[in-house]
Amino acid sequence: GEATARLVASRVLDVPDFPKPGVVFKDLMPLFADGEAFREVIDGIVAYHGRDTFDTVVGIEARGFVVAAAIAYAAGVGVVPVRKAGKLPRAAYAASYELEYGEATLEVHQDAFTAGHRVLVVDDVLATGGTAAATLDLVERAGGTIAGFTVLLELSFLGGRQRLAPRPVHALLTV
Ligand code: PRP
Ligand code: HPA
Repeated sequence: GEATARLVASRVLDVPDFPKPGVVFKDLMPLFADGEAFREVIDGIVAYHGRDTFDTVVGIEARGFVVAAAIAYAAGVGVVPVRKAGKLPRAAYAASYELEYGEATLEVHQDAFTAGHRVLVVDDVLATGGTAAATLDLVERAGGTIAGFTVLLELSFLGGRQRLAPRPVHALLTV
């Protein structure tokens, strides 16, 4: 709600020219570092989706891991990491995508989900949506069903929500 959005807004730092000239990077580390604020946003996400609407949480490397592990713990479910290429030790599906500032490949273990597992996908920031699109694709290829996709911060001017349509996107704060 409105209070959660204000809370996130109050814990974001704008960093000009990171990671390259012209990009204003939204840094959420102050939110992660504030125990009370962090708990409030995590509990808010669990309450928004409903504790019994997902069986697993997927977090996207690296900052998504922070959010995913906390949500999974709060909801009493497990966490599955979607990782950058070459990090997973066993057979994995791979998806390449373009980033606001580069290109990358993400992977998930082929046996990460049992068929029909309801998967809540979370990340810290939605920018162009390339990372999220690749991740949602990977989850489905590995047999999961998308229960929802939530981010703490949506950068609406980069069009991620349109790119992911018609899939619903939940953002605690949209700028
Ligand atoms: C950032 C962010 C999202 C993604 C959003 O991660 O945490 O995962 O970019 O961008 P997009 O919507 O344009 O795809 P980054 O790839 O910088 O990795 P990190 O978490 O390891 O820093
Ligand atoms: N902040 C954090 N993560 C990001 C951003 C940003 O501005 N853009 C793409 N990923």
